[in-house]
Amino acid sequence: DKGGWSSFMAKEISEEPEAVANTVRGRVGDDGLVHIPELEGLDELFGTISRVVVVACGTASYAGMVGKYAIEKWTKLPVEVALSHEFRYSDPVIDEHTLVVSISQSGETMDTLMAVKYAAAHGAKTLSICNTQGATIPRESDAVVYTHAGPEVAVASTKAFVAQITALYLFGLHLARVRGTLSEQALAENIAQLQSVPDKIAEVLTQQDEIAQLAHWMSDSRAVLFLGRHVGYPIALEGALKLKELAYIHAEGFAAGELKHGPIALIEPGQPVFVVVPSPRGSQTMHAKVVSNIQEIRARGAKIIAIAEEGDVAVLPFADTVVRVPLAAPLFEPLLAVIPTQIFAMELATAKGLDVDQPRNLAKSVTVE
Ligand code: BG6
Repeated sequence: DKGGWSSFMAKEISEEPEAVANTVRGRVGDDGLVHIPELEGLDELFGTISRVVVVACGTASYAGMVGKYAIEKWTKLPVEVALSHEFRYSDPVIDEHTLVVSISQSGETMDTLMAVKYAAAHGAKTLSICNTQGATIPRESDAVVYTHAGPEVAVASTKAFVAQITALYLFGLHLARVRGTLSEQALAENIAQLQSVPDKIAEVLTQQDEIAQLAHWMSDSRAVLFLGRHVGYPIALEGALKLKELAYIHAEGFAAGELKHGPIALIEPGQPVFVVVPSPRGSQTMHAKVVSNIQEIRARGAKIIAIAEEGDVAVLPFADTVVRVPLAAPLFEPLLAVIPTQIFAMELATAKGLDVDQPRNLAKSVTVE
C-alpha cells in the first residue's frame, strides 16, 4: 500500500527518519552506550578479530564503504570492502581472525550468500546486516544485526541504505566499547550524533520541491557526474547508481581528488556535476580541496549542484544551486547528503515519465549468481 504517495519510492524516502530511528531503538543501554542485544555473548569473539571484510552488492556495498571510515576510526581494525562476487572468486586472504560482515537488504542476494558461505568454509566469522527477518544470509551467518527500515518495495534502495549505515555505525560503536578503543565520552557523543540524524533527515526532506525543479531543469541531460571525498565518495557513487537505475541516464561517481587524474577531461560547458561538499568543521583541508575542485570545473563550464552544510558560504560564488543539509559531525554527513541524490533521481525519472518503483531490467533481489 503506497499510503497516498505517488510511488513506493516516494513513500520509502519519506520513511527514512523512522528507518534510522527504528534501527537505533533498543540498542542503547541505560549507560547511554551502544549494546546490541543480538551481539550479547560475542565479546570474546570480538576481542580476537584482527580485521573486518565487508561484502555486499550495489547500494549495500556503498553503505559498507561509508561504514569503513567509521569502524576503522573507532576500532582501529582494518576494514576492507569488497563486492561479494569479486570477493568470492579472488582467493581472498581470510582466517579465523577475520570477521566478514555481509550487508543485504533482502538477505537473499545470491552473490552475497555465496561470499558468506565461502568465508565460513574458510574459517572466518560471519556477521550479517539484513533488513529481512529470517532470510537466508542471516541464517547462514554466525550473528546478525537487523536493520529496521520496514519492508522496502521499490527496487532501488533508499531507506534500507540509511538503515544499513546506521547498523554499521551501531556495530562500530558496540565493537569499540567491547574492545575499549573509544572513551565512554566519545562513545556517548557518537550515539548522540546518530540519534539526532532522524530529525535532520526530516529537515532535508522539506526541500523536495526545490530538488524536483532541479530535476526538471536537467531532464534532457545525457550524463551527470557526482564528486565526493572521504565519506562523501561513496555518496557520489550511490547518487550515480540511483540515477542510472531510475532515470537511465549515464552517471558516474568519482573521488573528488581523482578529478585531475582523468575525469576532468569529461567536463564541457553545461555538464551537470553534483558535488558532495565536506563540512569545513571536519577537515578544513578537505573542504578547501573540494571547493577548489568546484572552481576548476566551474571554469570549464560545468553546472554545479553543491550539497553543502548550512552556513557553508565558500561554495556560493561557484555553485549554480546549493542544496543544504543540517550540521552534523563529519562521519554522519553521508546520512544527510544522500537524501537529495535519492530525491533527485526519483524526480528526474518521474519527469521522464518512467516507473520509479520498477525500473527496466532490474529485480529487487537477484537470487542467481
Ligand atoms: C540489486 C538491487 O539487484 O541488488 C539493488 O537492484 C540492491 O537495489 C542490490 O542494492 C543488493 O541487494 P540486497 O538485497 O542484497 O541489499
